[in-house]
Amino acid sequence: MGNEQSAPYEGPTEVLEGRDVRSIVKYMKSKECRKVFVMLGAGVSTAAGIPDFRTPGTGLYSNLERLNLPYPEAVFAINYFAENPLPFYTLARELYPGRFRPTLTHTFVKLLADHALLDTCFTQNIDTLERRAGVPAHRIVEAHGSFADQHCIECKRAFDGAQMKAAIERAEIVRCGECGGLVKPDIVFFGEALPPLFERTVPKLREADLLFVIGTSLTVHPFAALTGLVPAGCPRVLINMERAGDIGGRPDDVVLLGRCDDIVREIAQELGWADELEREWAKTEILVPLEALDREQGAKEKDEERAGVETTVADVPASQSQAAYAEGAPAVSKGQEEEARVEAEVDVLTEKVAQALALSEDAGVEAARTATITPGSQSTTSGPGSEEASEGAAAHSSESDSRPPVGDTRSPEASIAGKEKEKL
Ligand code: OAD
Repeated sequence: MGNEQSAPYEGPTEVLEGRDVRSIVKYMKSKECRKVFVMLGAGVSTAAGIPDFRTPGTGLYSNLERLNLPYPEAVFAINYFAENPLPFYTLARELYPGRFRPTLTHTFVKLLADHALLDTCFTQNIDTLERRAGVPAHRIVEAHGSFADQHCIECKRAFDGAQMKAAIERAEIVRCGECGGLVKPDIVFFGEALPPLFERTVPKLREADLLFVIGTSLTVHPFAALTGLVPAGCPRVLINMERAGDIGGRPDDVVLLGRCDDIVREIAQELGWADELEREWAKTEILVPLEALDREQGAKEKDEERAGVETTVADVPASQSQAAYAEGAPAVSKGQEEEARVEAEVDVLTEKVAQALALSEDAGVEAARTATITPGSQSTTSGPGSEEASEGAAAHSSESDSRPPVGDTRSPEASIAGKEKEKL
């Protein structure tokens, strides 16, 4: 389901003693491991009762027939929303944060912060469960936005949160009092730029000592590309039901397949945090009012502004970045070359965020497109890049050809792929 998978690396490890929980924990306890980064996806919230997007059968995209959409992702596509906002408002009511409890995995991320290991938790999720679990707001980057604020999509005027919540509860479409444009929560839709905080924080990944990637198919860019921005010597640990992205392709990649709550429990046990994990998780039974979290988020954003942009992506020469990107994923080595590569990729990523590049033919986006169009026919065991996946991709593209265009002049196929890419 994820894309850009490379062949699993089978040679010796370089940083970790082995590719198992015990070795990860030994490394976490060492002085080499100071800055832990986390990337989260919908899989961390399934145990809370929120469906993920692409798991065949249970994922949100296989269960939207009732919304009468031209294709499932249209519910989060800005062009489609502009034409027909009702499906999104209907779904927003079901997904609106407040009624869900954080999972053990969210609490594990909190413990990383409590133990002064967490640098940043990048999340694609809009459910705010990281905050509810007690992960400090200034450690969270909600890459795909959240329900915390809302704006008119035309004149960008802010809209009152309480009124928005009430309208969503009634599945009532909100229009701007000034210009009559549609109002939408600040969730990032396909075709929209990611929040500035994402752009500002991405360069920190070059300082990562350890990366956990949990509960994501690594399908949507630019988020998926973050795994490639950590240094070559940074162990990357995928905790997921299935393989995803290129994790497994580097010497110190560890792939732990299974339910994330079970796996983090095992890691916590090995760390000696087992009781603490259960105790902290027990506290999440009492839900924190969303409004209080929103206030906290506001304070966080002020903190971030005060901190300023320490390392701006503009520091990276564009020519360098373009060259590196054109070469695709280069063979990595330590030292200067690696530093240049990471900086170059950061720059490319940011340029993409800023410019919302047009449709590209790269394999990752192609895999993303096919993975998202027909989730019901995905195999959870075959990885993109495999023969089976490529055959599936071909079959899916002809299926997608029959879909009607959604608010732009490109073919439906190009439109969908473009929307995935436009999130860059
Ligand atoms: P996906 O649904 O694409 O992937 C979720 C992944 O989590 C899958 O690989 C599942 O196998 C795995 N999974 C599910 N339950 C799990 C569990 N209990 N333990 C471990 N793994 C589990 O969701 P995302 O990757 O988050 O964007 O999707 C990325 C983006 O696509 C979303 O943010 C959303 C969507 O379009 C927007 O709509 C803006």
